[in-house]
Amino acid sequence: MIGRLNHVAIAVPDLARSAALYRDTLGAKVSAPQPEPRHGVTVVFVELPNTKIELLEPLGSGSPIAKFLEKNPDGGMHHVCYEVDDILVARDQLKARGARVLGDGEPKIGAHGKPVLFLHPKDFNGALVELEQV
Ligand code: CO
Repeated sequence: MIGRLNHVAIAVPDLARSAALYRDTLGAKVSAPQPEPRHGVTVVFVELPNTKIELLEPLGSGSPIAKFLEKNPDGGMHHVCYEVDDILVARDQLKARGARVLGDGEPKIGAHGKPVLFLHPKDFNGALVELEQV
């Protein structure tokens, strides 16, 4: 059911510092910071030859990553995103197999303008899983 790894998201307390780390220390190509107010984050995209890393910094009050950073003040891996062909088919198969979908279970439009869903980390070895329809 799942296809390619679309991205790994890392929550960071200081986006400029983290972007510099990936650009200058790791030698990666990084985007300009992109505010995503509807998602409560500012994102820097790190382009790798086979996938992307997304550096996420909280934006505004009630950011979905604020609590995570309280628990992990240095930052940490927040979620992995797998591609699916049809997000509604994937959701229904996963639910039938016992996985829990977060929120109201309806896909939202994610940071790339495509439908996304999140799966409960307790059902996936402690890792928050995002599905993105491509
Ligand atoms: Co993501």
